[in-house]
Amino acid sequence: MSEKLGLGIDLGTTNLLVYLEKKGIIFNEPSVIAFDRESGQIVAAGTDAHQMLGKVHGKISVIKPLKDGVISDMRAAKELLSYVIGKVENLTEKDLSKTASVICCPSEVTKIERDVMVDLGMSMGISEVFIEEEIKAGALGANVDIFKSKGVMIVDIGGGTTDVGVISYGDIVLSRTIRMAGNYIDKELTKLVKQKDRVEIGELTSEKCKMELADLRTNGNLITNRYAGRDIVRGVPKWVDISSEDVKQVITPAMEEIVKLITAVLKDTPPELSADIYQNGILLTGGGALIRGIDTFISDRIKVPVNAVSNPLTCVAEGTKYLLKNKGNYLVNPLKL
Ligand SMILES: Nc1ncnc2c1ncn2[C@@H]1O[C@H](COP(=O)(O)OP(=O)(O)OP(=O)(O)O)[C@@H](O)[C@H]1O
Ligand SMILES: [Mg+2]
Repeated sequence: MSEKLGLGIDLGTTNLLVYLEKKGIIFNEPSVIAFDRESGQIVAAGTDAHQMLGKVHGKISVIKPLKDGVISDMRAAKELLSYVIGKVENLTEKDLSKTASVICCPSEVTKIERDVMVDLGMSMGISEVFIEEEIKAGALGANVDIFKSKGVMIVDIGGGTTDVGVISYGDIVLSRTIRMAGNYIDKELTKLVKQKDRVEIGELTSEKCKMELADLRTNGNLITNRYAGRDIVRGVPKWVDISSEDVKQVITPAMEEIVKLITAVLKDTPPELSADIYQNGILLTGGGALIRGIDTFISDRIKVPVNAVSNPLTCVAEGTKYLLKNKGNYLVNPLKL
């Protein structure tokens, strides 16, 4: 690439990762920002703002700028990115005018949603903005040479979206996205606990419970942990015991939907590429790849080998390193630049 400094941005529904050329990943925290409602000033960003979710008084507003993989609050997204980049690397708008950036997005976004991402980069002063699909970046970040002729299938289960795509000769041949992923599971878990135990748990608690207990293995240990919530009848704080079986009950139907999506994409995949996928197996990326037993759960149903990558939460940001090298030129293999 040119002398411009490269900036890779994985602006996910749950996590924001920023990669800076020559430095590596400079930020990896939740995509959350908190403002003082009166002055409009930023009170916290990333992990600090995430901790405030559901806990602050009326003077502070805590915002997640993305919904279902796309920007839903432009001002908050821009403030979050500018704050993070300025704070972590002291990069000013003038510095940003000398950068080229790749922003990653789900594969099935509308032209308008892509344009919003370009506007975001431009409004920050970045001179060149490229939008790339996160499954492509994720594959590169997992060290898969997508520029070989061999077909590769990537399944990215994030916070807001699940993205299934087939890549060959460096670009996406076909893909499908559904807006069902980690956040959906958290909401379903909250519903289940409310119905079963008449206790309402908060968003942070529900996600923590899922991360601690998610296990799809048939021979996984039954674990029960205690979480704090609010009795929905009496309105007072109450402990509730949630088991790995409860979490499995919620995750299973969501994963069955994801299996249906994978099957639909496989059905539309040309036979030569299908044969490659059958040989190479399917790669899982995104936070959902950390669910214990998810690989076997999927492979048992579709009879194709499935492997979770070793860096599911960072591979998209790590992959921007290669995309920054060839900036939209799909005929050049950036792994060889
Ligand atoms: N150990 C774990 N077990 C289960 N789920 C997990 C685990 N660790 C993280 N997650 C979930 O993974 C999701 C975050 O993954 P990721 O960072 O890939 O999403 P994202 O890129 O922000 O979202 P998207 O790509 O949909 O915009 C969250 O829902 C989180 O709860
Ligand atoms: Mg993601």
